[in-house]
Amino acid sequence: MTSDQPERVKAELEAIPETALWTLYHRAVEARRLDTVLDDPKAVELVERIDYPFEERFGPDGGLQGQLQALRAGCFDREIEDFLARCPRGTVVCLGEGLETQYWRVDNGRATWITVDLPEAVALREELLPPGPRQRLIACSVTDPRWMDEVDAERGVLITAQGLLMYLRPGEVRDLIAGCAERFPGGTLVLDAVPRWFSRMATQGKLRSHGYQAPPMPWGMDAAERDKLATAHPGVAEIRDVLPVGGRGVVGALLPYLARLPVVSARRPSVVAVRFSDR
Ligand SMILES: C[S@@+](CC[C@H](N)C(=O)[O-])C[C@H]1O[C@@H](n2cnc3c(N)ncnc32)[C@H](O)[C@@H]1O
Repeated sequence: MTSDQPERVKAELEAIPETALWTLYHRAVEARRLDTVLDDPKAVELVERIDYPFEERFGPDGGLQGQLQALRAGCFDREIEDFLARCPRGTVVCLGEGLETQYWRVDNGRATWITVDLPEAVALREELLPPGPRQRLIACSVTDPRWMDEVDAERGVLITAQGLLMYLRPGEVRDLIAGCAERFPGGTLVLDAVPRWFSRMATQGKLRSHGYQAPPMPWGMDAAERDKLATAHPGVAEIRDVLPVGGRGVVGALLPYLARLPVVSARRPSVVAVRFSDR
């Protein structure tokens, strides 16, 4: 008997690469809701295709984690959409892309997309999401500047680091920003950061739920510290907060106020766009 269902793919990621399954799972849980804050049918499809005990490993999602992940992804989606409106044939470089399905949410049919991730994460992505003619996969640590040689920035470049930099050491984050400023003048890096208290908890092994232990997160940055990113390189021209929009229920009701309450706002997770000057 034959079946139209694509074959299930076993995921055997561990440690930091396994976090790509965590974010995918929560986006898919959110996308299944009728009142979802982020349409992401590809994430749902992937979770159904991957042979991995998602719920057993990560626990049931009561609706909060999925929504927060989706709102964060939405910040990056908006930045990419704005970039593609200005540079329709530009290059979008997704550092630490894991199993993000952003391409299926915001691609414009003309841009070039590059994924840079660790070899085991890229191998799984390649099997599940074989790259189309405008997509490329680079199996390489983002701390190895060789990925930069593969980027054609001629028609504009936007680099994303979504859910990535917290796993690097502070010096590596600095070097990455400096490298991007040096190699991609006129480009923008959109990144997100966990606050210092969260980074400390992860590094002390205190982020545990349903038996899943989040890996250490050596780099934390309080939202109030974002301007310090400019010290990485003189080519940093502008640093801009990217705030989540929308949101459902209590999260949606509180979001507009959180950014305005000084103590909370200073120590919240942040998404930031770093623009490099056009030399
Ligand atoms: C939390 S996941 C985020 C995946 C995706 N960006 C998302 O938001 O769903 C972190 C990703 O960063 C990748 N990663 C971590 N350290 C990396 C490094 N040094 N170089 C390249 N990728 C890295 C992991 O393999 C994983 O895919």
